[in-house]
Amino acid sequence: MRDFTFQNATKVIFGRGAEEAVGAEAAALARKVLLHYGGGSVKRSGLFDRVVASLTEAGVDVVELGGVKPNPRLSLVEEGIALCRRERVDLILAVGGGSVIDSAKAIALGVPADGPLWDFFEGRAKPGEALPVGVILTLPAAGSETSPVSVITNERGLYKKGFRNALLRPRFALLNPELTFSLPAEQTRAGAVDMLAHVMERYFTNERDVELTDRLCEATMRTIVANLPRALTDPENYAARAELMWASTVAHCDLLDTGREGDWASHKIEHELSALYDVAHGIGLAVVFPAWMDYVVDHDPSRFAQFAHRVWDVEPDFFDPGRTAREGIARVVAFLRSCGLPTTLQELAIGDDRFDEMARKAVESGPIGAFVPLGESDVRAILERCR
Ligand code: NZQ
Ligand code: ZN
Repeated sequence: MRDFTFQNATKVIFGRGAEEAVGAEAAALARKVLLHYGGGSVKRSGLFDRVVASLTEAGVDVVELGGVKPNPRLSLVEEGIALCRRERVDLILAVGGGSVIDSAKAIALGVPADGPLWDFFEGRAKPGEALPVGVILTLPAAGSETSPVSVITNERGLYKKGFRNALLRPRFALLNPELTFSLPAEQTRAGAVDMLAHVMERYFTNERDVELTDRLCEATMRTIVANLPRALTDPENYAARAELMWASTVAHCDLLDTGREGDWASHKIEHELSALYDVAHGIGLAVVFPAWMDYVVDHDPSRFAQFAHRVWDVEPDFFDPGRTAREGIARVVAFLRSCGLPTTLQELAIGDDRFDEMARKAVESGPIGAFVPLGESDVRAILERCR
């Protein structure tokens, strides 16, 4: 196990009615908030009005900016930065899923910054400060509710990049599973794949003696696998929604990273797909992750065999761990398909004409992945397996 520092300072309030705490939580940090949201689901559900009422009652002024699209765009972030400066906002409140939260974090980063915001995402600048961010989560998926990461798409050049800094970790996250009852099936399943992927990225590590985090990862993955079908057949099943919501946070709050190094190549490859084709992140991962597994399995068949046995109940073949490993990958694909997820680019109507471009962009800053470092030709080969 490696040495590590673990600090996740987000205050999580979980359960029925959790969002009612927003007035008090915001008032402790700010006098004026930017209420940031997406394409309108929060207005249709009535959540928006309840949030405004809670903030107003607590004496907090509200400025609103909606319109965040899935795969959030830099142009709206820049609009938000200008608005917050003009209105002297001192807290960004994200009400929505990962895209809204990431957009809120980018605004929080940009308000006090001198230079262009994209410089942070390109690694050309380091922030000294950021406005605080609060979250009311409506879609368990990205784990952005407690992560220090913002992922933004720059329309100029179609780059999708993540920026990581502890300043971006939300100060509070209000998690009410009932707010996810209204999620369409496609968002529920895409979200679950993203959480599963966050755990798998960490699970496939070269680090030895990581028994505790292996077991935590396995428990989290099994919980997601058990509860996604329940939530799909019974969208108002509180228990299933609650398990998925907490799994989203646990998967990506950095606890499962402790003492080990994750891989993250599948995420980087998926970001190229999202950037060019605007596919939902979780859907892209359902296609990319099995292809990545198939490409790297021979690097450490025993680790894949452990995954197959402990997460997917594959009977181990002690004479041939590679066989157990491959059966595990087959079960991942079968599970995704049984939940109605695509596992090929063909199903997304994406051809091979931009494989070269995606492969080149994915490795622009050097090889990707830590379990098996990948260069341009490896990424191309994985994309071939996604067909
Ligand atoms: O925009 P509205 O109308 O709100 O509708 C949204 C959106 O269309 C809808 N939705 C959300 N909550 C709902 C709901 N519909 C009905 N009822 C509800 N309760 O869901 C749609 C998708 O929302 P989005 O926020 O895009 O999804 P998700 O949470 O999966 O976030 C995806 C983004 O997060 C990034 C991804 O790359 C992608 O851009 N990620 C962020 C990470 C981070 N910050 O740590 C890590 C992840 O790996 C990921 O890269
Ligand atoms: Zn993800």
